[in-house]
Amino acid sequence: MKADAAQLNDWLMRIDTFNATPGEGTTRAVYTKEFYRAREYLKKEMQDLGLEIHEDCVGNIYGEYKGRHPECPPVWTGSHIDTVPHGGRYDGMAGVFAALEVIRMMKSDGYQPKRSIFVNAYAGEEMSRFGMCCIGSRAIVGRIHQQDLKDARNMAGESIFDVLSHDGFEPERFNRDFSTKPRVHASLELHIEQNRILQDKDISIGIVTGICAPTNLRCEIHGIQSHAGGTSMEDRRDAFMASAEIALALEHLAKASDSEYITGTVGAMKLEPGAANVIPGQADFSIDIRSISAQDKDDLVEALQRKIDEITRNRGVTYQLEQLNNDTPYICSPHIRELLHESAKELELPVLDMISGAYHDSLMLGDITDAAMIFIPCKDGISHDRKESIDMDDLAKGTDLLAATLRRLSEE
Ligand code: GLV
Ligand code: MN
Ligand code: MN
Repeated sequence: MKADAAQLNDWLMRIDTFNATPGEGTTRAVYTKEFYRAREYLKKEMQDLGLEIHEDCVGNIYGEYKGRHPECPPVWTGSHIDTVPHGGRYDGMAGVFAALEVIRMMKSDGYQPKRSIFVNAYAGEEMSRFGMCCIGSRAIVGRIHQQDLKDARNMAGESIFDVLSHDGFEPERFNRDFSTKPRVHASLELHIEQNRILQDKDISIGIVTGICAPTNLRCEIHGIQSHAGGTSMEDRRDAFMASAEIALALEHLAKASDSEYITGTVGAMKLEPGAANVIPGQADFSIDIRSISAQDKDDLVEALQRKIDEITRNRGVTYQLEQLNNDTPYICSPHIRELLHESAKELELPVLDMISGAYHDSLMLGDITDAAMIFIPCKDGISHDRKESIDMDDLAKGTDLLAATLRRLSEE
């Protein structure tokens, strides 16, 4: 049986109704009303397909399609259902519903795999709300501990731990839920590409060879708040201007690096007190650095730190730099990539090997199992934006490849 593009579209449009900004892109931040409603919707769809649902205290959902040998380590697939502010409706959701479609196809074919297949929705893949990415998959693989849920805070100062407690989860169960790492045979995630390489080459499927990893920092600049008209240009200790110079230094360093996949982004900034006629006394901003090479990333962070020292010294301001995470890039499982190539050949689907510039839950899952990813194109490479769009036929082809490869993995 082939994947049904109309069914996929129907699911994707339905989950998109759980959206804080209808008409202005999809906004479904982790642990918000929209996120919880989308979870309920997804669980209902999973139940309708006969999946057995498991959950944990950070909000991961695991939908189990029982295999003939459920005692064997299962195969995992799926992605995430949270979004960035005013983002798209496919980033994450395409992978969750492609996985669900695979189960629907298997059931229609009367096929029960040897190993169980889990369709998972990992909580909080996007870092936009708490400055921590992949909360759910990070917890599963042991990259965070209960204390990290207390330390990671949103702009309003609320911690993940407090928000979860308030919303009826039991984050104090963290050590129990994540005391042992699950035994997983393999993990395969479908995702939109978030670049334009596939579109430019007119190829519907990417096989991900490696996943760039982020280093995330929070920088606080302390200057002196004062009058925008009364303070001469020489007398200022402007926290924003220092931040702007640091952001430009980051751009310059990333562009000047010979590392092919290196990126540097300042995506969020808060100024105090934030008024047009007041020189900001404080600036608090995010720094996001990615690469496929851990060494190149470390070198860039070091060079940036030297620049921050120099810039703040020259401007007479002080700073605090906090490293939120420093993740290691992942080289996708050669074994699963081989199976993907074989399956694609059988399905007569042309594919392209490619690096993922974005991070994904698979980056974390690679700590505990063989992990790999399938990419499908997104229009003009636009993602994390309301204009994000895909061709449903591409998603159906990607889902066919996902189904064929999951079958192989689940029979191993
Ligand atoms: C994930 O959305 C990322 O920022 O790479
Ligand atoms: Mn994303
Ligand atoms: Mn994503």
